[in-house]
Amino acid sequence: MYISAQSYPDEEILGLANDVATALSMTMPEVLKAFGQYLFGHLNRTHLGIVEGFNGFADLIMGIDKVIHVEVSKLYHEPNLPEINARLIKNGFILMEYYSKRQLCMCAEGLIYGAADYYNIDVTLNHIQCMHSGFDKCMIEIKYEAENG
Ligand code: HEM
Ligand SMILES: [Zn+2]
Repeated sequence: MYISAQSYPDEEILGLANDVATALSMTMPEVLKAFGQYLFGHLNRTHLGIVEGFNGFADLIMGIDKVIHVEVSKLYHEPNLPEINARLIKNGFILMEYYSKRQLCMCAEGLIYGAADYYNIDVTLNHIQCMHSGFDKCMIEIKYEAENG
């Protein structure tokens, strides 16, 4: 996803985010938002055309696994990609399952905040179950400001 990520063990990234939060007196969600906004912008700039193909926030979220990361896997040799399954429960509410042996669900959260920022909408995330507490996959509830109500 991002150049230096490869050179750090994934567990360390989470530790780093925590340290940044403490050092800057920010909460983890604040740090993740800032990081995710940067990262989403970076991915968008370095993979021109992919994000423009979507028709808003929900469309993009629903297309991460089967469209965005499929394109990514054509561009790179053996990329490390998660399995993401997003279901539209109703307008304004998506339930996302995340699985990756890298357990970078915090990056996923950050990128979701980044996507919301890109479309200029508010989003509330609720990490209802997490691989870091022993579940086989993470579940993230995404409540977003639905376009057109
Ligand atoms: C909200 C939207 C997105 C989410 C939640 C998401 C999630 C993730 C996560 C969590 C990873 C880390 C790998 C892992 O967990 O195993 C990842 C990797 C990656 N994603 Fe995404 N992604 C999103 C959008 C995008 C977009 C828009 C692009 C490009 C246009 C992109 C390109 C990549 C690339 C290049 C990698 C790195 C693969 C590697 O390290 O080998 N993603 N994504
Ligand atoms: Zn998690």
